[in-house]
Amino acid sequence: MSDSEDQNKTSKLWGGRFSEATNEFVQRFSASVSFDQRLYKYDIEGSIAHAKMLAKIGVLNSEELQKIESGLESILSEITEGEFYWSIELEDVHMNIETALIAKIGDIGKKLHTGRSRNDQVATDIRLFVRDEIDSICKLIKKVQKAFVNLAEREAATIFPGSTHLQPAQPVSFGHHMLAWFEMLDRDYERFQDCRKRVNKSPLGAAALAGTTFPIDREYTAKLLGFDAPTNNSLDSVSDRDFAIELAATGSLLMTHLSRFSEELVLWTSAQFNYIELPDRFCTGSSIMPQKKNPDVPELVRGKTGRVVGHLNSLLNLMKSQPLAYNKDNQEDKEPLFDLVDTVKDCLFAYSEMIPAIICNKEAMLAATQKGFATATDLADYLVKKGLPFRDAHEVVGKSVSFAIKQRVGLAELSLEKLQEFSKLIEADVFDVLTLEGSINARDHLGGTAPAQVKTAIMNARTLLSSR
Ligand code: ARG
Repeated sequence: MSDSEDQNKTSKLWGGRFSEATNEFVQRFSASVSFDQRLYKYDIEGSIAHAKMLAKIGVLNSEELQKIESGLESILSEITEGEFYWSIELEDVHMNIETALIAKIGDIGKKLHTGRSRNDQVATDIRLFVRDEIDSICKLIKKVQKAFVNLAEREAATIFPGSTHLQPAQPVSFGHHMLAWFEMLDRDYERFQDCRKRVNKSPLGAAALAGTTFPIDREYTAKLLGFDAPTNNSLDSVSDRDFAIELAATGSLLMTHLSRFSEELVLWTSAQFNYIELPDRFCTGSSIMPQKKNPDVPELVRGKTGRVVGHLNSLLNLMKSQPLAYNKDNQEDKEPLFDLVDTVKDCLFAYSEMIPAIICNKEAMLAATQKGFATATDLADYLVKKGLPFRDAHEVVGKSVSFAIKQRVGLAELSLEKLQEFSKLIEADVFDVLTLEGSINARDHLGGTAPAQVKTAIMNARTLLSSR
């Protein structure tokens, strides 16, 4: 055996029972340090809590605890300063840090792993990581929600062609339309908070799978790490990553919402719609077509949705069919998890900056609303209020619309006499309901688009945001 092979064998924290060095490919294949080093802060936090607990139950004396703690803290600052050497031979973040601790403080460092395994260690690290990420994501969701509320307030009285099937359907307040996005994000926020409850349990103490023979105090470590409580079952604690899957599912739903909004922005900024304009700083040009101003940011958010949903898929399939308890498969949870939180945060950040800068082209919105017979339902409702059954009213209005299309005019441009040819019930007051303002104002109930309702919804939204 060459010197370097011997070193490879003996430098491993688990090298005792091995008589030959790890195959070089296997070493690279099984190492996770290139990506799981991102968990270093949580790994050290977890180790310090574990060491404190070991001291509390008498496994470490106070001097040993002090050495371990200050050793770990100086490793923390070395890593933060970029002065730490991550070694692939040491496989993962846990063994890199533990080995560095032993190198720094000697044999006392070897006591840290008492009553613990990398299996409960990594489960703890990821839960701490996910908890932090949920908190950052929720902060960003609130920012985007606030941006929607501000825009809604600014444009509460702006008339917009509400559509179904992407066809002009009924006039709405643009503010009302923006508040629909607020609501979707609000449910996303709640889902993240709900997910957080299940994330925030401490698996530390589950050890490899069955617990440990030391009289550990799991409540104590849970409390030190800010967890609500320890988990109940050691096998479950080290093996399931359902909390990460939940995060991915919640993130996927959020991204699905953002992708829908993105699609609207892409459509609305097009020359065909021309409803809104995005400031130049959020757009890019074309290298060949000088006239182009492309909505790259919304397109990317839309595209990145696929990426996040892909990560959800990876995690689900990673977990699928795994027997109890820990399996190395679970090491594969990190890259999708890291990328998905980064992507979700980037997309939220992009919209928190971009939404306040949206410029509405009110004339284009108005013109499109006028063009689309958007008050046809109002005319039908008018006839119903005069005693006609709704299905008959629908028929009358359908015929009026068909006539107006042939004449190339809007419903409000037809004369009273002409309208009366379609129904004798129509009187001069019909023009009140055929105007766009009249149509919007008439939908004056909880959840409706009347500007008065939009104002109340804005107030409620602001109260909700300030309570969080
Ligand atoms: N790097 C491993 C992971 O991310 C840590 C746990 C390894 N445990 C083991 N028994 N090999 O899952």
